[in-house]
Amino acid sequence: MEENNKMGYIPILRTDTINQSFTRFEFPWPSLLVDRANELREEIRKILSLCMDPSLLQNEDYPSDIKQRAATILENCIGRNIGSYSRPWGLEIVRKQVAKYIQQRDGVPSDYEDIFLTPGATDALRILLYLLSYKDESDKPAGVMVPIPQYPLFSCTALEYGMYQIKYYLNEDTDWSLDVPELQRAINASRIHCKPKVLVIINPGNPSGFVLSKTEIQNIIKFAYEENIFILADEVYQDNVYDSDVEFLSFKKILFEMGHPYDQMQLASVMSGSKGFVGECGTRSGFCEILNVDSEVKDVLKKLACIRLVQNIPSQIVTYCQTNPPQPEEPSYKLYFMEKKLILNSLRERAQFCYEKLNSVPGLSCRRVIGAIFVYPRMHLSQKAVKEAQARNQTPDEFYAMELLENHGVCVLPGCLFGQRTGTYHFRMPFLSQMDTLTVIVEKILCFHQSFMEKFKDEIFQTSNTSF
Ligand SMILES: Cc1ncc(COP(=O)(O)O)c(C=O)c1O
Repeated sequence: MEENNKMGYIPILRTDTINQSFTRFEFPWPSLLVDRANELREEIRKILSLCMDPSLLQNEDYPSDIKQRAATILENCIGRNIGSYSRPWGLEIVRKQVAKYIQQRDGVPSDYEDIFLTPGATDALRILLYLLSYKDESDKPAGVMVPIPQYPLFSCTALEYGMYQIKYYLNEDTDWSLDVPELQRAINASRIHCKPKVLVIINPGNPSGFVLSKTEIQNIIKFAYEENIFILADEVYQDNVYDSDVEFLSFKKILFEMGHPYDQMQLASVMSGSKGFVGECGTRSGFCEILNVDSEVKDVLKKLACIRLVQNIPSQIVTYCQTNPPQPEEPSYKLYFMEKKLILNSLRERAQFCYEKLNSVPGLSCRRVIGAIFVYPRMHLSQKAVKEAQARNQTPDEFYAMELLENHGVCVLPGCLFGQRTGTYHFRMPFLSQMDTLTVIVEKILCFHQSFMEKFKDEIFQTSNTSF
């Protein structure tokens, strides 16, 4: 624990602790001039509303609730036109809607001034890691705690920003649980290399499929408080939970429930339009809520958003719809509800199917998939297979994946891309294909696996005991 923690929680993201490159940025925002221009535009917008093209809103083919949402969005776009730029953190109407959604989800207040819209969760994560990548007076690189296995965005971005990656290992034996003693081990071991600044949590986990319980989240928050590190919660799979006894709980909700002093902690949570039952990854939509960060740091974040010239409006519309689904009294509700249920039930069945099948043959084992959209089974490979991989200059899991592709046309990603304990080998496979296709894919994998294991079976030499 750091000495100064005894004095209470010290905010991690401050203007003197964040990446100082921002001081060199020159960008025409925030400025009084631009703010005033926006105010004037707001007034003009009200006048222009009378001139809005009414054709879409009068089209009988669209349900009234859809038209109402479209009209609301258009009313809030500059020039009633989705081809316009929006404000630095996105359209206010969308940010307010996101705040409402978060408030309903967590039962604690959410302020739209803490929310920024981004082209996918990726951009939000990268901006935050950028801010946190600053070397302080210790001159050690900033350390980022990353789960293993992980989604490689984190390791790649850490490398790009010169951050030190502090690997903490999820526990495969307990369905990839995240254990605080392991966090402690990892952070202690990292101190000679870096100044730990941020803890990345992926919940539900990609590729591990675990979902954190309330107690686990509480323990992680306590750990982050004691260590004075920023929590970066990647919660993009929050709608993808398949066990009816398990509920997604956001870090924010638990942090607030824990009360003082934890509710003072800085935290960022990201969400995406790419996952869940929406799956609109091509639209590049997402948002981030950042808590307990002062307005100066937020201004820097806005400046960074400005440099990107904000995200496109169609993707903000996806976020608006995602966080503002049809309500029971609205005409689209029945269809929406049915589709959502169908998609999530089907994903649940597919997760269970993969879990059972991938545990049904010797040499493959798969942990329970409680959330997200992947299975990450372990291959128990023979020495012969490992040697053959070495001879081909491949890692054993790459070799396995390549053979699977070459022989059966099935493409899975080797575990070395996501991280795994030395001497263990995995592959990651999404279960997004429809059940009939998925059945064929899994059968092919099982068939391949059995022939691979047979082909690379270790010779077992019978040692005859000659002593009697
Ligand atoms: C854990 C996790 N975070 C973030 C992302 C990126 O999301 P987006 O498409 O919103 O950038 C992904 C994409 O697969 C992911 O798995």
